[in-house]
Amino acid sequence: MKILLTSLAARGHAIADALARSPQNPEIVSIVPAKNPGIAALASEQFVADLMDFDAVLDIAKKVQPDFAFVAPDDPIGAGLTDALEDIGIASVAPKKALAQVEASKGFTRDLLTKHGIDASPAYKVFTETDDTSIRSFLDELEGNYVVKYDALKGGKGVKVSGEHVHSIDEGVAYAIECIEECGRVVIEEKLIGVEFSLLSFVSGTQVIDMPAVQDHKRAYEGDTGPNTGGMGTYSDSNHSLPFLNASDLEAASLLNKQTAKALLDECGSPFKGILYGGFIATKKGIQLIEYNARFGDPEALNILPLLESDFVDICQGIINEELSEDMVTFANKATVCKYITPESYPESKDNKGEGVTLPDVGDNARIFLGDVSESDGTLTLGGSRTAGIVGIGDSIAEAEAIAQKLCKQVEGPVRFRNDIGTQEVIDQRIRLIEEVRKG
Ligand code: AMP
Ligand code: GLY
Repeated sequence: MKILLTSLAARGHAIADALARSPQNPEIVSIVPAKNPGIAALASEQFVADLMDFDAVLDIAKKVQPDFAFVAPDDPIGAGLTDALEDIGIASVAPKKALAQVEASKGFTRDLLTKHGIDASPAYKVFTETDDTSIRSFLDELEGNYVVKYDALKGGKGVKVSGEHVHSIDEGVAYAIECIEECGRVVIEEKLIGVEFSLLSFVSGTQVIDMPAVQDHKRAYEGDTGPNTGGMGTYSDSNHSLPFLNASDLEAASLLNKQTAKALLDECGSPFKGILYGGFIATKKGIQLIEYNARFGDPEALNILPLLESDFVDICQGIINEELSEDMVTFANKATVCKYITPESYPESKDNKGEGVTLPDVGDNARIFLGDVSESDGTLTLGGSRTAGIVGIGDSIAEAEAIAQKLCKQVEGPVRFRNDIGTQEVIDQRIRLIEEVRKG
């Protein structure tokens, strides 16, 4: 069994780790944009190539002749790497370009849900003309509580929320016009108030199997302040729900993933095969969709995959062959807390790049997944981006948090992490917020 893993950073390390634990003992060959010491330790070979350079990726794939490929990041999925690999006879765990629009185009997804009668969207409109009056009148209609979304992939930086990134109707109009000028379309929607969470599912056509729900923390600094990042940390609970959700919330999110997978099949005429990542928000009106991604999240994968007790290679094959079933997927009933170690200068600058970092050894109740670090002669040095995700695993979120926190404090180098992620104080805040939102 040979698997081609096209991935990067800590998410790639977590995927490689889950594949390597398979009883099928697969050989993992990886293609990475920059060498990753974590993946290197698990792969028989690590090729370095730009994952958007399809000719280079296909040349390697032809040489490797894997049984299947796992394509992890959004850009190559959105640009059709799965289709290109299929053209040379290699099936992938990742959707084809048409289906990956569910992540690459926010307008496509809102329209898909509307067309298929899936009721989980706020008021929204898609604009393609830089006509200032109709944009302005919709922003007025939303009474200034709006979100403007660039309608293509933009490394998680295309969304501007009123009151956070934009502070007047004029600023909203200006950003909307900027989006249309750059990518031809913009989505403007009502700003939802509530608590966000993620529910990822393994999907093969209409076969949809959920993973434990996770909550991400995108802001750079404690107390959810500072600029948005790729994610500073995440937690999941031992019952696979989250402390602020009730059973009907999780069921609603699960149903939305199933309905969306079916809608994608009907719309595109071919099955979505891969990871469907629902970004949801629990609001007064119930569960609403913020966005879909067509891949594992980073850090979400770092919480979820260490809990997987069943054979990940088997699940991948089930996704590819449309033979996915509930009994193939078992997760440990444990809680996890992931805290990202980042350079002190992240995300504002890359000033610490090249400086040394030392990571602690971990036991069975923790994992460290390596991100933007390089290794030479056993010494690790920082890149400019997130360094390593440290995951504590315990019977409760409190236990997992204590494990992750202790390990984070042992890291030596010019680094930082968010002390507050997974703490009872932050969880209580979320519970209070959801209670207030529900009362209205
Ligand atoms: P996205 O890139 O779609 O994940 O959006 C980034 C962030 O913008 C989300 O995690 C939310 O915090 C926020 N966001 C997106 N859409 C909405 C919305 N309709 N209402 C409130 N916040 C939103
Ligand atoms: N953690 C957010 C993402 O992967 O998109």
